Amino acid sequence: MSDVSTEAARRRTFAIISHPDAGKTTLTEKLLLFGGAIQMAGSVKGRKAARHATSDWMALEKERGISVTSSVMQFPYEGRIVNLLDTPGHADFGEDTYRVLTAVDSALMVIDVAKGVEERTIKLMEVCRLRDTPIMTFINKLDREGKNPIDLLDEVESVLGIQCAPITWPIGMGQRLKGVVHLVSGEVHLYEQGRNFTRQDSTIFASVDDPALEARIGADMLRELREELELVEGASHPFDPAKYLAGEQTPVFFGSAVNNFGVQLLLDFFVEHAPAPKPRETTGREVGAYEPKLTGFVFKIQANMDPQHRDRVAFMRICSGKFSAGMKAFHVRSGKEVKLANALTFMASDREIAESAWPGDVIGIHNHGTISIGDSFSEGEAITFTGIPNFAPELFRRARLRDPLKLKQLQKGLAQLSEEGATQFFRPLMSNDLILGAVGTLQFDVVAYRLKDEYGVDASFEPVGVATARWIRCDDAKKLEQFRDKNALNLAIDAAGELVYLAPTRVNLQLAQERAPDVAFLATREHA
Ligand code: G4P
Repeated sequence: MSDVSTEAARRRTFAIISHPDAGKTTLTEKLLLFGGAIQMAGSVKGRKAARHATSDWMALEKERGISVTSSVMQFPYEGRIVNLLDTPGHADFGEDTYRVLTAVDSALMVIDVAKGVEERTIKLMEVCRLRDTPIMTFINKLDREGKNPIDLLDEVESVLGIQCAPITWPIGMGQRLKGVVHLVSGEVHLYEQGRNFTRQDSTIFASVDDPALEARIGADMLRELREELELVEGASHPFDPAKYLAGEQTPVFFGSAVNNFGVQLLLDFFVEHAPAPKPRETTGREVGAYEPKLTGFVFKIQANMDPQHRDRVAFMRICSGKFSAGMKAFHVRSGKEVKLANALTFMASDREIAESAWPGDVIGIHNHGTISIGDSFSEGEAITFTGIPNFAPELFRRARLRDPLKLKQLQKGLAQLSEEGATQFFRPLMSNDLILGAVGTLQFDVVAYRLKDEYGVDASFEPVGVATARWIRCDDAKKLEQFRDKNALNLAIDAAGELVYLAPTRVNLQLAQERAPDVAFLATREHA
């Protein structure tokens, strides 16, 4: 096998989806611990705090108790290379999360044993469904009282519409938690409070029939367990790799992230069964992960990671080939060669300069605004990866400047911040308004805060008569011009220079559509 196929085959790129507070951060810490990043254990939150110091606007994030930024963590485990792409936690950041999910090959769903399936998990699951993303499930906080495990699986199946295949099964819960049984290997892993439960230092019995087990968990509990296992065997589905890979079945694990219990069993199973990078669709053809030439797409932009340098980092998911430090790549949208100098990789220990990276990996490219979300890179071929949409925002506000002399700064700030993808910036054809669109209201606070903090601009956002936006497409240049003339009052240009119809009401939108049957009104703009 070539280097590319060997390296691609051992990549596991995934994201954790969960409702806030289910334990995503805690689980991330433990996974990193197994990846050998010992110094990282317990410090994911610490690292968040350190970032606050370098970038003050994140104080807002702290105030609100939300994580605005996503990051990428890479660690080796059992001969595999695991890439964990963090997803922003707050509901307002759905779009951003959506795009992170386009860059992964599978997902891990974390559910709080007491709360069951929560609203945000349902939404994220819908997103995974769009691409049939394979999903593993970790039911967390077993050290606390929660719902009956069988009921929980029923809930996942009925609410999320995915079949459950339990791989581990809990023995007791809360105060009575004794351990888990591995339903595939038959092993029993005991839970002992206060220990770090790596495979090496936990007590393992070969099966529930091991005579020593009864002495440890008691005859009553063992009887209960046997009965439950029989029930589970009768009522649940055995693990089916094909169904898992098709996104139809989720292997389920039970544990307690904070106690590091059940986590390694999950990780072992994950690296063995989770998919390596798969072929991906482009406008021209399907690109296989094992192809020798570099291709990739940008799914996220983060501005001003270092306030000393006004640069932005574009996060590119590599889809095929090899990236080598300093190489040139073809930026498909601009048609230009770009030197990928000083690209970042994301080893768990720190951001560091990438020497090489492979399919499934993410690299960070510094740039000054030339790269946008959705952009594709190649070694010369004009291909564009599809399926990384911009959604029409649902909320609109007009920017109001307190100091008119800062107009230039305001425009620059709005344009740069919208490159990150959480907000969109529109300039009407017929007025000097600056209109910002977002999916959630919190975005306006974040932008106002960052405008002040990073651009020195005091601006506020006021209501504006826009209900919804649609991107305009029309192949017939003449008809497009007619449409432009007739509707100039409602048209605007977005940050990428595309024509957008800003409808004051839904009814108005409908009428405009009826009057211009040759013009397409698109609710998403796929980056092209
Ligand atoms: P999130 O990223 O999904 O939002 O969740 P996070 O890991 O921050 O966990 C949310 C809370 O749940 C934290 O408590 C965390 O310690 C706790 N937690 C995580 N896993 C477990 C578990 O297995 N058992 C129990 N009992 N609790 C768990 P917190 O009080 O909000 O924060 P902290 O002060 O403990 O850090």
